[in-house]
This record gives sequence, structure tokens and C-alpha cells, in this order.
Amino acid sequence: MQRSLGVRLAVLLIAGFSLAKAVEIEVYGKDNKTCIYAVLSVNFTVLYEGNGTMDNATFQLPNSLSSNGSICGNNKSAPLLKMGFGTGHSLSLNFTHSAGIFSGDVLTFTYNTSDAKRFPGAKNTSVKHVAVNSLMESVPLNTIYTCRSAKAVASEAVFMVFWNVSIQAFVENGTISKNESFCKADIPTTAAPITTQTTSTTAPTKSPPEQPAVGNYTVKKGNDSCLLANMGLQLNLTYTDDNQTHVINIDSNSTASGHCGDQDATLVLEDMDTTLQFHFIVEQSKFFLKEVKANISLVINGSTTTLNSSNTSLRYWQASVGSSYMCHKEQRLVVTDQLVINAFNVWVQPFKLKTGTFSRAEECSLDDDSILIPIIVGAALAGLIVIVVIAYVIGRRKSYAGYQTL
Ligand SMILES: *[C@@H]1O[C@H](CO)[C@@H](O)[C@H](O)[C@H]1NC(C)=O
Ligand SMILES: *[C@@H]1O[C@H](CO)[C@@H](O)[C@H](O)[C@H]1NC(C)=O
Ligand SMILES: *[C@@H]1O[C@H](CO)[C@@H](O)[C@H](O)[C@H]1NC(C)=O
Ligand SMILES: *[C@@H]1O[C@H](CO)[C@@H](O)[C@H](O)[C@H]1NC(C)=O
Ligand SMILES: *[C@@H]1O[C@H](CO)[C@@H](O)[C@H](O)[C@H]1NC(C)=O
Ligand SMILES: *[C@@H]1O[C@H](CO)[C@@H](O)[C@H](O)[C@H]1NC(C)=O
Ligand SMILES: *[C@@H]1O[C@H](CO)[C@@H](O)[C@H](O)[C@H]1NC(C)=O
Ligand SMILES: *[C@@H]1O[C@H](CO)[C@@H](O)[C@H](O)[C@H]1NC(C)=O
Ligand SMILES: *[C@@H]1O[C@H](CO)[C@@H](O)[C@H](O)[C@H]1NC(C)=O
Ligand SMILES: *[C@@H]1O[C@H](CO)[C@@H](O)[C@H](O)[C@H]1NC(C)=O
Ligand SMILES: *[C@@H]1O[C@H](CO)[C@@H](O)[C@H](O)[C@H]1NC(C)=O
Ligand SMILES: *[C@@H]1O[C@H](CO)[C@@H](O)[C@H](O)[C@H]1NC(C)=O
Repeated sequence: MQRSLGVRLAVLLIAGFSLAKAVEIEVYGKDNKTCIYAVLSVNFTVLYEGNGTMDNATFQLPNSLSSNGSICGNNKSAPLLKMGFGTGHSLSLNFTHSAGIFSGDVLTFTYNTSDAKRFPGAKNTSVKHVAVNSLMESVPLNTIYTCRSAKAVASEAVFMVFWNVSIQAFVENGTISKNESFCKADIPTTAAPITTQTTSTTAPTKSPPEQPAVGNYTVKKGNDSCLLANMGLQLNLTYTDDNQTHVINIDSNSTASGHCGDQDATLVLEDMDTTLQFHFIVEQSKFFLKEVKANISLVINGSTTTLNSSNTSLRYWQASVGSSYMCHKEQRLVVTDQLVINAFNVWVQPFKLKTGTFSRAEECSLDDDSILIPIIVGAALAGLIVIVVIAYVIGRRKSYAGYQTL
């Protein structure tokens, strides 16, 4: 039905994408103008019946969201912001307005316990809904509701924490207001519940992508660590259908698994939406990263798309077997036309670990400030030698000449 309304939907992600980063979402009307705008961060804790015990699932609102099902609203229907994610989860908020003010009405969280990644071992797999009254206070129309403070919303088995929230519904002329209406919690100690204040910039600032957190990943063989990788990873995806780049930081809490062999080793990193596989091999007593496989689900133009990228003939992160490879500088690992991995503070050792720790590190050439110093010292020494030789030759000539005249 929202299709017959001709609503074009799109999701924008605020640059950055680290886990705790706010997610930005926009709903467009049939005239392609923004009618609902929101930025928010949400932590969910959901109590569910696990394998034998009650378990808590904890996750955050991911940066890959679908706005499918959102409605701009008209005389008959209220505007609805629907943020879909994963396999059948969504967070929805509808809005009301009257006499120059608007507010959020009912907040509905729908979750699907069949999602084994978010709800491991769930006994009753089903889709559940919880609804609570309002996330946001009433604020004047044509202002953007802003609440940086954390706000907890609890209902039945679900506990949600919202923070860094900015919401505007009933957006006029597609222009998001510059006037912010702050929530009570953001106002230090004022009697007035809400003040509207003009600021030159709106709450959400599109910062450049934040550097990913460094994860310490370990693969074990029995009780012993056999592969170590400390690194921060960021994916830069170029998706041809929308011709945009999507930058996603890999959760530093991703689960690591893999296998260790004498001649080859694999590291698999998995988080909610991404699986990355790194394959290392040994050749002539050097190891290097030969293969990367990525499986990424991403919401593009409202629908979830899975991107599979792999390259089996790479040669990155090379060092001698028995050493570790280290690189502090940012590296761009080109995997395919679609996928570039930006790697930060890499320290890996896939082979021959001694007592489960890193061996001596071979640093990447990018890092080689250390090589610069010998070069400078060497050049200076060479210069000095030349000067000494010249001085010696001149001195000899002079003394020779002087000897002659005497
Ligand atoms: C809205 O945007 C879509 C794609 O971006 C375009 O095809 C369509 O013509 C636009 N409609 C209007 C009314 O501008
Ligand atoms: C949300 O969860 C993350 C990770 O679990 C945590 O670091 C952060 O402090 C939480 N934020 C709030 C406001 O609870
Ligand atoms: C689940 O989380 C809630 C709220 O944080 C807490 O009160 C409860 O004890 C937790 N239950 C389990 C089984 O971890
Ligand atoms: C909404 O109602 C007003 C009057 O009540 C009417 O003029 C306007 O055309 C209606 N708009 C739509 C989209 O139905
Ligand atoms: C918002 O949605 C709830 C149920 O999802 C509904 O009961 C309520 O009437 C809606 N509010 C408006 C203003 O339409
Ligand atoms: C719930 O999750 C399961 C498994 O991920 C999936 O097969 C199913 O389609 C989901 N249900 C909905 C309503 O999306
Ligand atoms: C449930 O737990 C039992 C024992 O703790 C285990 O054998 C079984 O594999 C578990 N099932 C699932 C689906 O995790
Ligand atoms: C929207 O456009 C109309 C007509 O151009 C104008 O009168 C009105 O002030 C605009 N509203 C905003 C919030 O810019
Ligand atoms: C990861 O390893 C580095 C170096 O060994 C260490 O400094 C850092 O504290 C570790 N981080 C975590 C989260 O364990
Ligand atoms: C992502 O890739 C595009 C195109 O290659 C590039 O312009 C952009 O700077 C990259 N972004 C990051 C954060 O690496
Ligand atoms: C990673 O997991 C640990 C323990 O489960 C938790 O304390 C920490 O907040 C998590 N960090 C992030 C960034 O999610
Ligand atoms: C949006 O959701 C409807 C059902 O609610 C579905 O039929 C449609 O395919 C979805 N569109 C996209 C782009 O996912």
C-alpha cells in the first residue's frame, strides 16, 4: 500500500558506522522530498527462553536499516517510521500532530527469535511484538526533536536504551529544520520543559568515517592459540546498483574461528551481518595473506542485499614464518572492484606461535621510519667522507705547492 502511495524510500547511513554510532534514516514522499528524518542509537536487551535457561540477547540497532514499510502520512494515515533490520526485526514509531505540535505515538519493536545470531539457542522461534507509548515528548512542528541523553524504554521482556536521538516528522518542503527542541533530560536545570533554540547546524553532523576499533582475534588448536590477529577493519563497498560507497566498521567483538595448519591457516570473523575469511599460506618460508572471502548483508534502497566478494590471488601481509607481521599505518587491501578493506594497526601471526604469543614483528615498509634514520645517517656519513677527502686533496696540494716554493 505504501507502494501505491508512490513513496520512495531510502536509508542513509551516517558516516562512521562504528557500533555505537548513530544511524541516520530518511523517508521520502512521492515528490522525493524528505517527510520523516531520524538519527538514533539504540541498545536492545531481550530476555528469551534459550536452551534450558533464560538468556538475554543484547545487540544494537545496526547501521544497515531498511525503511520499507514507512509511510509519509496524509489526512487519513499517520506518518510511520519503520526501521527494518536483520531477518524480520523492526523498530517502528508513528506520529501524531495537533495544534502546531507533533509527537511520537506508539513505538513498536518486532523481533524474530529464529535469528540464531541474535538469539542463539532460542527454544520458541517466533516473531514477537512489544509496543510502548511514545519515545519522544511533544515538540513544535517544524523543529527537530533532539535528545542526546540516554533514555531507557522497557516493556515485558524487552529493555531498550535510546541515545543521540534526533527526529523530525511532518517535515515541510523536504527541509529538515535547524531549530532543535531539546528533551527534558538534555536541559540542565530549567523549569521550562522544552526550549527551542536556533543553531546554525542540525544535530546530526556527518563526520568522516570513524576509525574502526581494534579487535584481538585468536584461533585456537586445542587449548593453545595458533593464530593471532590484532587489527581494526573497515569495509569500503562500492555497490553498482546505487553507485554509492558504503563504509562499514567490523565489530571488534566479532567472533573469531578458523583452522591452523603448517602450510595454511584460516581466520574467520563473524558479526551479525558480515562474515570475513582470511586465508594465509606459506611459500618459501614466508607467509602472506593469499585469499579473502567476504559475505556481507547490506540494506540498499530498502532491501537487504548480500554481497559476496572474494579474491584468491592476493599477496598482503608478508613476513617470515616464525615472525609476526605488523603495520601501524592504514592499509588499503583491494579485494575486488566492489570491496576494499581498510586495515588499521595490523599485527598478525598465522604460523609458529611460541607459547601462544606474538613472535618478533616484521614491520611493513610503510612503517619504516626506522629505515629512514640509517639512510639519513648514511648520507651524512658519505657527505662527511667526501668533504674529508676533498679537504685532504686540497691540503696536500697546498702543502705540496708550499714545499715547492720553499
Ligand atoms: C524521484 O526519484 C526517482 C529516483 O531517484 C526518480 O526516478 C523520480 O523521477 C523522482 N520523482 C520526482 C517526482 O522527482
Ligand atoms: C550500548 O551498548 C554498547 C556495547 O554493548 C555499550 O558500549 C554502550 O555503553 C551502551 N550504551 C548505552 C547508552 O547503554
Ligand atoms: C537480562 O537483563 C535484564 C535487564 O538488564 C536483567 O534484569 C536480567 O537479570 C537479565 N537476565 C539474565 C538471565 O541475564
Ligand atoms: C486534507 O484535508 C484538507 C481539508 O481537510 C484537504 O483540503 C486536503 O486536500 C486533504 N489532503 C489530502 C492529501 O487528502
Ligand atoms: C500508531 O500505531 C498504533 C498501533 O501500531 C495505533 O494503535 C495508533 O492508533 C497509531 N497512531 C496513530 C496516530 O495513527
Ligand atoms: C525469522 O527468521 C528466520 C530465520 O532467520 C527467517 O527464515 C524468517 O523468514 C524470519 N521471519 C520473518 C517474519 O522475517
Ligand atoms: C542444548 O544444550 C544441550 C546440553 O546443554 C546440548 O547438548 C544441546 O546441543 C543444546 N542445543 C542447542 C540447540 O544448542
Ligand atoms: C514551505 O514552502 C512554503 C511555500 O513556498 C512556505 O510558505 C513555507 O514557509 C515553507 N516552510 C518551511 C518550513 O520552510
Ligand atoms: C589487544 O592486544 C593489544 C596488544 O597485545 C593490547 O594492548 C590490547 O589491550 C588488547 N585489547 C583488548 C581489548 O584485549
Ligand atoms: C571508499 O572508496 C571510494 C572509492 O574507491 C573512495 O573514494 C573513498 O574515499 C573510500 N572511503 C574510505 C573511507 O576508504
Ligand atoms: C564486547 O563484548 C564485551 C563482553 O561481551 C562487552 O563488555 C563489550 O561492551 C563489547 N564491546 C562492544 C564494542 O560491543
Ligand atoms: C517491502 O515490503 C513488502 C511487504 O511488506 C514487500 O512485498 C516488498 O518486496 C518490500 N520491498 C523491498 C524493496 O524490500
